[in-house]
Amino acid sequence: MNINKAINIEDLHRMAKRRLPKIAFDFIEGGLEDERGLERNTSAFHKYQLLPRYLVDVSRRDQSKAVFGQTFSSPFGISPTGGTSLFRDHADLMLAEAARDANIPYIMSGASSETIEAAARIAPKNHWYQLYSARDPQINADLIRRAADAGLGAFVLTVDTPVGGKRERNIRNGFANIRGGLFQALSLKPSILAEALTHPGWILEYLKRGGGTPMLGNWQPYAPAGASAEQVYKFVSSVRPFNAQTWRDVETYRKLFPRALVIKGIMSPADALRAIDVGCDGILVSNHGGRQLDQAPASLDVLPAIRAAVGDRLTLLLDSGIRRGADILIALCLGADFCFMGRPTLYGAAAGGLPGVKKAIDIFVNEIDLVMGQIGCPSLSELGPDFLWQPDWQRNR
Ligand SMILES: Cc1cc2nc3c(=O)[nH]c(=O)nc-3n(C[C@H](O)[C@H](O)[C@H](O)COP(=O)(O)O)c2cc1C
Repeated sequence: MNINKAINIEDLHRMAKRRLPKIAFDFIEGGLEDERGLERNTSAFHKYQLLPRYLVDVSRRDQSKAVFGQTFSSPFGISPTGGTSLFRDHADLMLAEAARDANIPYIMSGASSETIEAAARIAPKNHWYQLYSARDPQINADLIRRAADAGLGAFVLTVDTPVGGKRERNIRNGFANIRGGLFQALSLKPSILAEALTHPGWILEYLKRGGGTPMLGNWQPYAPAGASAEQVYKFVSSVRPFNAQTWRDVETYRKLFPRALVIKGIMSPADALRAIDVGCDGILVSNHGGRQLDQAPASLDVLPAIRAAVGDRLTLLLDSGIRRGADILIALCLGADFCFMGRPTLYGAAAGGLPGVKKAIDIFVNEIDLVMGQIGCPSLSELGPDFLWQPDWQRNR
């Protein structure tokens, strides 16, 4: 598998599929129930066409973008993805390193295998953390303290997981999901194991790690001393999901974290307005990549309504379904300040480790650059609805 041969994200997707056993690939790929949300997420972008403007000097194109007071080299970052050791050992740290080298933000998942502190050592300026709240407020406060002490630029609270989604691929593959919790423990049934054995690269890493469920690194300090990865998983399942979480908890977190506070998973304009009221700096408009509510709209489709409701009082980040540089430009035209993606960089990690993640990022950077040139847009600040073709031709200017 030669990562250099990948020319688009779909190539990395195919390479990841080849390297991973079904149980691991399905975990990345899957949505839930009928997986209609997955399809909605990508087709939302395909509804739009960019209207090119020519005879504009595009000899220099600048895709840098500032968010929460920091300028990044590109208008996208890496969304939080849990259980990454299932696809590639130390993938969390690879994502952090690749983000640092490309100068884009990396959001560490609340279900990461590695710790906040380890990623902060690698990427101190590019590292954000995503919290899955626990029932125990002291754990939440301590995780926020750790993120603050590590100097992280933003703290992201995921709110679209009050209960676990019915991820049917994982159920069929035999993942254990204790008490309807969000995190799913890996257990290889004989038939699944037989298929996994046909993926020697993956199985060697799995055995080297000692098999079983990956460690939930950030939660280890709160579990009983000396707990194994399986025991930490069981401990976390006993405090998750925290489905009594409310806006009051956000108010508490607001007081505890000194820098940017972002809520991930907000889809309704009313919730976006509430986020302003409780002092959030931004929201990540997201349907969790189609993994939580199969009937949810695409995040791109709700974006204009949210932008109209909040004006410029809230920074709007967006993920779910982005597979091309042009998708990012479309989201920016529709009112996003910044974009994120989950699966594309995971495909890179699974297919080729650190070089694979870097490849995924490079693909997006190059595609953004080319499309900016093609549509006559030397700087992202110029993007807006006028760059989108309106199906009602009379509305085009
Ligand atoms: C394998 C995987 C694990 C994920 N884990 C988390 C997580 O731990 N926390 C979270 O807030 N979102 C998680 N997500 C959702 C992503 O943050 C993001 O919202 C989603 O992947 C965006 O859609 P995309 O994959 O189409 O880019 C996960 C997504 C995937 C694919």
